[in-house]
Amino acid sequence: MVAVTDGTAPVRRAPLIAGNWKMNLDHQQAIAFVQKLHWALRDAKHDKGSVEIAVFPPFTDLRTVQTLIDADKIPFELGAQDLSAHDSGAYTGEVSGAFLAKLACRYVIIGHSERRQYHHETDEVVAAKVRAALRHGLVPVICVGETSEDLEKFGASAVPVGQLQTALDGVPAGADIVVAYEPVWAIGSGQAATPQQAQDVCAKLRDVVAEKLGGDAADRTRVLYGGSVKSSNIASFMREPDVDGALVGGASLVVDEFAAIIRYQKHVGV
Ligand code: PGA
Repeated sequence: MVAVTDGTAPVRRAPLIAGNWKMNLDHQQAIAFVQKLHWALRDAKHDKGSVEIAVFPPFTDLRTVQTLIDADKIPFELGAQDLSAHDSGAYTGEVSGAFLAKLACRYVIIGHSERRQYHHETDEVVAAKVRAALRHGLVPVICVGETSEDLEKFGASAVPVGQLQTALDGVPAGADIVVAYEPVWAIGSGQAATPQQAQDVCAKLRDVVAEKLGGDAADRTRVLYGGSVKSSNIASFMREPDVDGALVGGASLVVDEFAAIIRYQKHVGV
């Protein structure tokens, strides 16, 4: 995470710490969780301008969390974990980006490895969902990453680079997106990538954004690392120039741990 320049004025990418709750916390538990996280950060005198915080609850929690954030003026952005590639119609069980936008969602995760693995989402489906998100003014958080077999066969970057190239097909230059590099072998395993591995792949993903959406978009786009991020390793990732934040799963469900991740600037060097 460093300031970059466009040749005239410095452009700073705001760090983004995103909590992917997956299928955890019902809407009542969500209220308690968001309140406790807010209080923990307030008690710690966290500077809310220093890091953007986003939470990604299950669909059934979104309205409740939106209402709470709004009523208590909690400085968290809201995101969904998936959306339909379609806008409306006979698609039983699917959720339109239009509905998410109405709930004041800013972000939507697309192409998480669990969707790719358990719901057979291909790169083409991911690309259609990215376009759907953009149609509704949502910022897609596009997840890419290699499995351990991919890593052995092709090295770390080939698969995520290919996934991102397809995901950005048909996306207009300058579109507002977030990219999340999540090596599948690191998700939920307790075995995070090294900061150097994350940096190498995130830099290559930024090159893909430059190639597909232009240099300005590449300078502006946040590239996150995800996979076994915790309070003890976040600072080491955030020191890397092309890592602009984290997509956090398990550790985002523990108030004190997620608050400590958000406050990584206070424990650089831990
Ligand atoms: P993890 O999950 O932090 O539990 O490894 C990350 C993710 O799946 O987004």
